[in-house]
Amino acid sequence: MTGSGLEIRPFTRADDLEPEFALRRRAFGVIPAGDRPRWQASVQASVDAGEIFGAFDGGRLVASARYFRMRQWWHGRSMPMAGVAGVKVAPEERGRGVGRALMTELLAEIARHGYPVSTLYPSTLPIYRSLGWENAGGLYEASIPARALTALAGPDPALDGGAGAGEDAAGLRPAEIGDGPAAVEVLGRVYRELRHRGPNTRLPADTAARWLDDEDHFAYVADDGILSYRWSDGHQELRADLLAAGSAATSRAFWRILSSHASLARTIRVRLAPDDPVTWLLREPDIAVGRSEMWMLRLVDAAQAIDGRGFPANAAVAVQLELTDAARPGNSGRWTLEVGSGTGKLAPAVGTANGSALRLGARGIAALFAGVPVATLRRTGLAAGGDVTADEALDCAFCGPAYMTDYF
Ligand SMILES: CC(C)(COP(=O)(O)OP(=O)(O)OC[C@H]1O[C@@H](n2cnc3c(N)ncnc32)[C@H](O)[C@@H]1OP(=O)(O)O)[C@@H](O)C(=O)NCCC(=O)NCCS
Repeated sequence: MTGSGLEIRPFTRADDLEPEFALRRRAFGVIPAGDRPRWQASVQASVDAGEIFGAFDGGRLVASARYFRMRQWWHGRSMPMAGVAGVKVAPEERGRGVGRALMTELLAEIARHGYPVSTLYPSTLPIYRSLGWENAGGLYEASIPARALTALAGPDPALDGGAGAGEDAAGLRPAEIGDGPAAVEVLGRVYRELRHRGPNTRLPADTAARWLDDEDHFAYVADDGILSYRWSDGHQELRADLLAAGSAATSRAFWRILSSHASLARTIRVRLAPDDPVTWLLREPDIAVGRSEMWMLRLVDAAQAIDGRGFPANAAVAVQLELTDAARPGNSGRWTLEVGSGTGKLAPAVGTANGSALRLGARGIAALFAGVPVATLRRTGLAAGGDVTADEALDCAFCGPAYMTDYF
């Protein structure tokens, strides 16, 4: 695409990547020397996949952004998700519309590839809001004194034996190079069975590069879980960027592995689902779970996104929606949203639909989809009209909060 002298297009193998690395350093800071080869390989992979776009002014790179091919899990089902990252404009070109022009083109590309949804971690909101992304979920972290994990609370003695206390985690072993496909499969299974909303998986090669194949990351796989952690701040702190366990035995085993470092590590900082069992496994109130980042969601194709999402089996809703989406006009119009038997459907409203419809823009439908309560949307001006007595049923259908543990 060209417009006002700017050419916005995917990088090709013919492009010199040095301007991209220089722009990256200028926008986000210096990459430690040890991380550079991995970073450059990751950018090269995005170039090869056609998933990194540059804005060129007379051949000079002035802005770039990329997306990662992911899947996102929504109440037991997953769909393709484009995870946008590395949005940056050369400092001297900021505030002139370059960022928005680039993101407009990237959104169109994501739509062309059929992604129903896209997410990103924003450092500023207006540019993304203007294109239909909205705050939707969180990245939750807990900091736990390592010694508090050395003796976990036992199961309720009132229950026969108690699940998982004495059992071994099935298939638990240190991860190996080549475990990427297994890790993606296991993670997907855990997110499906736990019916979580928001977490993502990456391609096997990206998963391996990020969590398994780095000698400074220590990873374990079990039949129903993945743990990956590393030292931080010398050996003061352990950081677990990935801890997903599908059963009591695997959950206890992972916390046991982390707590085995308590002789050196003072704290364990872990990214987790806000309702991770660890709060209930600690003997004392030694944990604070907090939202350290927010991520934004965009429904690129609202009907496909609703169609691909899972819903609670007993949720039942039938409401009229009036959607307005300037950047993706195919989402605009009057729709009937029906949720029942664990699935949902967004169909064009036929005939003269009676009653007032719940009015939402691209941002409102994205936040609703992620489980932000309708009362919150009404009080922020992201939803209006409709029948307020249906709000509770919508909340039960989409039930938040949504979370991710992968930061990109
Ligand atoms: C954020 C960034 C990509 C925006 O690109 P840009 O070309 O400057 O933005 P545009 O001129 O297209 O403006 C788009 C919107 O973003 C807003 N915006 C621009 N720069 C901004 C900034 N630094 N902080 C907050 N908002 C900003 C503009 O006000 C505009 O909104 P408006 O039309 O409602 O006023 C660019 O400023 C940048 O590279 N910043 C440093 C890196 C960064 O933070 N990247 C984002 C990572 S998520």
